Amino acid sequence: MDNSKLKEQVEIIRQAFGYIDQFKNEIFVIKIDDVLISSPYFPALIKDLVLLHRMGIRIILVPGSRTRIDEVLKTYQIDCQTAGGVRISPPEAIPFIKMAAFDVSNNIMTMLAENGAHAVIGNWVRARSIGVRDGVNFQSSGIVEKLQIEIIKNVLEDNLIPIFPNIGWSLSGKPYNLSSNDLAFTISVQLNAAKLFFVTDKGEIRADGFTVPEGIYVSSNNVISQLTLPQAESFLKVNAESPNKEKLELVSLACRACESGVRRVHIVNGRADGMILKEIFSNRGLGTMIYANQHDHIRPMTISDIPEVLSVMQPAIDEKILIKRSASDLQQKVNDYVVYDVDGTVHACGALHVYPDRQAEIAAIAVDEMYTSLGIGKKIVSFLIEKAAVSKLKAVFVLTTQTSDWFTKLGFESVNISDLPKEKKDHYNADRNSLVLRLKLDRYRAKRAFKVGD
Ligand SMILES: CC(C)(COP(=O)(O)OP(=O)(O)OC[C@H]1O[C@@H](n2cnc3c(N)ncnc32)[C@H](O)[C@@H]1OP(=O)(O)O)[C@@H](O)C(=O)NCCC(=O)NCCS
Repeated sequence: MDNSKLKEQVEIIRQAFGYIDQFKNEIFVIKIDDVLISSPYFPALIKDLVLLHRMGIRIILVPGSRTRIDEVLKTYQIDCQTAGGVRISPPEAIPFIKMAAFDVSNNIMTMLAENGAHAVIGNWVRARSIGVRDGVNFQSSGIVEKLQIEIIKNVLEDNLIPIFPNIGWSLSGKPYNLSSNDLAFTISVQLNAAKLFFVTDKGEIRADGFTVPEGIYVSSNNVISQLTLPQAESFLKVNAESPNKEKLELVSLACRACESGVRRVHIVNGRADGMILKEIFSNRGLGTMIYANQHDHIRPMTISDIPEVLSVMQPAIDEKILIKRSASDLQQKVNDYVVYDVDGTVHACGALHVYPDRQAEIAAIAVDEMYTSLGIGKKIVSFLIEKAAVSKLKAVFVLTTQTSDWFTKLGFESVNISDLPKEKKDHYNADRNSLVLRLKLDRYRAKRAFKVGD
């Protein structure tokens, strides 16, 4: 196996071990589109969910049943209209809708049992009618009024997987057809879930077909892999008129869930193998993650980070992009260094060395090869510039052999060796012949070209 493949696999195993501990006893609410049941990957998805359950993660399943309801209503020749994407459920359709919803839940319960996990389908949702909106009577389509939280917690305590069909009952026992997306959202909020998943047949959020506001990173295969809450909100704003309402609904629910305390919401493609595991156990999943708190952040380096920092820098050292540094070099300047930490793993680093003439060198910038092109490098440099600006320094400079274009894009300008602080000039390595680039901080302060956490 080649070295980079091995490195990638070891990295994934390490990350998985870290997450197993982190998620034990946490609640994950998982909404699954029922159309996926016929996908060849569905049995593997069920197996993965059982694995998560065995690891001590508390799984709650909310199967969508739109496809099955359509089939049943067609068979019995019952016509239902929709308004604003919501099915209008006439009372005579409700027995068939109930039948379809429970059919899907039963199907999933059977598959879980085949994999050795015990599930229970419950009647834990009190609902009421949507009523009449904009003149449209939604009849027996309802919204969630209340969940029987204590009973659900007991079910989880008993190591069972609760399955929620998208049906709720009023106090007087009248059944309502609920949106399973809304149901999953409410459950995740009321049970304070660590994660809410939308496993869809439409896939993750992709850039095509949407306007992508500045600052949101799009991967080379066009996936928007992460959105902070403000980014998700601005995405919704600029795409308000987009015809792709289904995806926008998921992003909107994700925003509301994050605002209400759910830590992360993931929109993943159910038509591929292992997507849910990859999304949970790797910092860089394949779906779209929406999160309220910066799950990734820059912090000062500590002595215990040094081995990881050296390993992040190593590929650039091998390519002679960075100069070699030892553990003791880093230890001596520990306060100059910052790291980019995602869930306890270092993915990038950088340093700011201050000189007596009030200039500072930005150095040792390196991003883990598996995490490039996500804006991390820019965040580290922006952070160091801000640090220098707050310390009222005059300018920051870099010495670079192969990365001058990148720094130029960030606003740095080419200057002469004579512009360097004396101590740096005296040690300038003529063999290396690095280019010198500088960013003056008076101009930076005036323009405020960067914001930390952009
Ligand atoms: C350069 C480096 C820090 C960029 O980190 P990053 O997190 O990928 O950076 P960002 O996501 O903010 O920017 C990515 C963009 O920079 C471009 N880029 C990367 N390296 C570049 C280089 N050497 N020259 C010009 N552009 C470069 C990428 O192609 C990408 O372009 P895109 O946005 O159009 O797709 C990272 O690639 C790295 O660690 N390189 C090796 C070490 C290094 O060069 N350090 C600087 C030493 S002075």
